[in-house]
Amino acid sequence: MRLDRFVCKSTEFTRAEATQKINVGDVCVNGDTVTNEAVQVHESNTVMLDGLRLKAREFRYILMHKPANTICSNVDEFYPSVFNYLDIKNTSELHVVGRLDADTTGLILITDDGRWSFNITVPSKKCQKIYRVELSYEIADGVEAKFKNGLKLQGEEHLTQPASLKIIGSKEVLLTITEGKFHQIKRMMAAVGNRVVSLHREAIGGVSLDVGLGQWRYLTRDEIQSFSK
Ligand code: URA
Repeated sequence: MRLDRFVCKSTEFTRAEATQKINVGDVCVNGDTVTNEAVQVHESNTVMLDGLRLKAREFRYILMHKPANTICSNVDEFYPSVFNYLDIKNTSELHVVGRLDADTTGLILITDDGRWSFNITVPSKKCQKIYRVELSYEIADGVEAKFKNGLKLQGEEHLTQPASLKIIGSKEVLLTITEGKFHQIKRMMAAVGNRVVSLHREAIGGVSLDVGLGQWRYLTRDEIQSFSK
């Protein structure tokens, strides 16, 4: 990771403060003073600040039940950020893995481990995300097959990856997808002449939502590892 990020992850400095410390020559990497904040460092490097060895904090892996009318970015905009629910330090280091729309509820994963979140979001890993979808109209005949075969969404060059649709009511389905295009489910439903009334993510891979609205917990070691395969 970049040296300024490493300094932030091992102290309480902001990015600007860390950069300043580096630029004035207060930081050594493997015995040499480094003044360029963009230099890449590894956990195994010896990074010293004012004569003290820095150790980056452990990565964090969090599951949260996102309420409606919240956003998955780190700062409040028209709606408040989901990070307001996290009563922990240094939340600016964290990001939501695969954002949900403001009106979508359910399971979100939050981490500061970019490699781990890549495994969950990159379509080639085919990590399954299960959504409960309430619709305006009854499910038309043949929609399951259309989702299985892939749909051409407006403005997209490629078909959607195979998605599995389980009908649980005349206007309610469980939809499993393995990618996360912008407004994907709303656009998939529009492509078959329907409209999403409400959208709720129930599971990502083997991890299911098990906390109340606005609540969160750390993932277990097994849950973290299940996404690293
Ligand atoms: N698909 C959508 O349309 N919205 C979401 O929030 C998630 C998937």
